[in-house]
Amino acid sequence: MLSKRMEDALNRQINEELYSAYLYQAMSAWAEAENYKGAAKWMAAQAKEEVEHAAKFYNFILERGGKVKLLAIKQPPSEWKSLLEIFEAAYEHEKHITKCINDLYELATRERDYSTQVFLHWFIEEQVEEEAQTLEIAELLRRAGDSTNAILMIDAKLGARE
Ligand SMILES: [Fe+2]
Ligand SMILES: [Fe+2]
Repeated sequence: MLSKRMEDALNRQINEELYSAYLYQAMSAWAEAENYKGAAKWMAAQAKEEVEHAAKFYNFILERGGKVKLLAIKQPPSEWKSLLEIFEAAYEHEKHITKCINDLYELATRERDYSTQVFLHWFIEEQVEEEAQTLEIAELLRRAGDSTNAILMIDAKLGARE
């Protein structure tokens, strides 16, 4: 059985993951409108993954006999100045999510909730990748600077994502 505190914290994480999906979908819409088709596709795929993350928490709560409570999702921004700004913001957001996962793990440790600790291992590993890939793209875009050609090459590379 989940403790009330653990259940509340896991429900808040469903919301964090759904907000991530919302944020990345908003970034995808911006990129699409700016004709960065590759980045639009990349961000749409990322948004879909975040919905899957939310579903993992949702299913875990139910499996443990807890109660799922869906909270209001806040409105993400809709305006950015550049592709670089988007990926810098995505990297910052992923660092925030890593902190959320670490806080959940700390709570699970304090509560001696071993199954939640094991469940969170997947997310701890996933966050290493999430931070690394957004940082890598941001660094490439930083290097591209104002070169339209370089930016479009990066955009094409992002479009290769499955
Ligand atoms: Fe996530
Ligand atoms: Fe993520």
